Amino acid sequence: MTSKIPSLEQLLDEDLRYICDNVSAEFSEMSGHKLLITGGAGFLGYYLVQAVLYWNLKRSSDNPIRLTVFDSYFRGLPQWLSDLEPDENLSLVKFDMMQPLPENMGDYEYIIHAAGIASPMYYRKYPIECMDTNINGLRNLLDYCISQRDQGKPVKGFMFYSSSEVYGDPAPENIPTDETYRGNVSFTGPRACYDESKRYGETLCVNFAQQHDLPITMSRPFNNYGPGLKITDKRVLPDFARDVLNNRDIVMLSDGSPKRTFCYVADAVSGYFKVLVRGHQGEAYNVGVETPEISMYEMAEKVVAIAAELFGYKGKVVQKKSEEAAYLVDNPSRRCPNIDKARKHLDYNPKILVDEGLRRALIWYSHNRDAEEA
Ligand SMILES: NC(=O)c1ccc[n+]([C@@H]2O[C@H](COP(=O)([O-])OP(=O)(O)OC[C@H]3O[C@@H](n4cnc5c(N)ncnc54)[C@H](O)[C@@H]3O)[C@@H](O)[C@H]2O)c1
Repeated sequence: MTSKIPSLEQLLDEDLRYICDNVSAEFSEMSGHKLLITGGAGFLGYYLVQAVLYWNLKRSSDNPIRLTVFDSYFRGLPQWLSDLEPDENLSLVKFDMMQPLPENMGDYEYIIHAAGIASPMYYRKYPIECMDTNINGLRNLLDYCISQRDQGKPVKGFMFYSSSEVYGDPAPENIPTDETYRGNVSFTGPRACYDESKRYGETLCVNFAQQHDLPITMSRPFNNYGPGLKITDKRVLPDFARDVLNNRDIVMLSDGSPKRTFCYVADAVSGYFKVLVRGHQGEAYNVGVETPEISMYEMAEKVVAIAAELFGYKGKVVQKKSEEAAYLVDNPSRRCPNIDKARKHLDYNPKILVDEGLRRALIWYSHNRDAEEA
């Protein structure tokens, strides 16, 4: 490896500073309040949690955001999170969102429901748990919002993590896809446990927002990648990174033709906090980037080129068939958002280009290559 590679501390400091700059108005509004993040031990939790603590430390130490994480540690308690446990503004609670909420769970002004099983390999293995976490967990939190309101302690912002998978496999005329598109989704296929529970979750959110006048919003993430996404996660980029760091060819399990737009996680997390605080009640927001829309093959080639520059990697892209029969069933051929609504309502403005994001992701993996296998 060459000496150009920044330390993990430098990389995290830059990304967390970038997020805090992007959402300083939103974090200022949340300061002094309590935030609950379910599923905060996961990929997106990595920057959701650390950005809040960074804000407290660097910008608002006298009026911090007090953060609680509920997570079942479905795939283990990650080291980065246990390392943060001494922070006095962070409470970690091992809790399974499929269960009724604890009786004295405390008062929260902001809630993000991120608990879920997002990796296709894992949700195909645990489809019932995937649905129950998305739906039962969400329903209990929505009931909590009503009870808080009735006790005169209203929640100020609630965000449900939906997904761009609610759109299924859009026809070309619906690409780029805006929030009004209704979707082309299988309700019984191997991805349905995920896609349909996100769709029903949104239906719950919309109706609770309307019927009970609650400040509920939904985010629809489009292919986030970057620091925090464990190398063992079995999503595409970590698999590529694992190949690179083991100095073997990159194995692609599709023909490389599906196209995606890839949103670096620091941009996406900025968007999620904006949806939480500024999102219009009962509305959903695409969170991603519009360009470039690239094929998986092009993405793999980019990884090869960046890894060659960073680490002197000499491998190439090779194609293999997955051993899992359902691997590509209902896999959308294109996924590309229209983000005009988030730009307009939230001042969401993603800036990190895919080459820079991939570079940062690969550097992060070079420091995090030994994640535990779940
Ligand atoms: N990462 C993306 O690009 C993306 C895209 C679309 C949607 N989303 C959604 O965003 C949310 C977060 O995604 P992620 O990539 O961080 O997922 P992740 O799988 O990395 O992390 C999810 C976390 O939820 C926890 N969890 C799972 N079941 C639980 C339960 N029953 N009770 C409590 N905790 C539980 C897991 O332990 C894990 O820490 C998910 O709802 C996911 O569906 C993510």
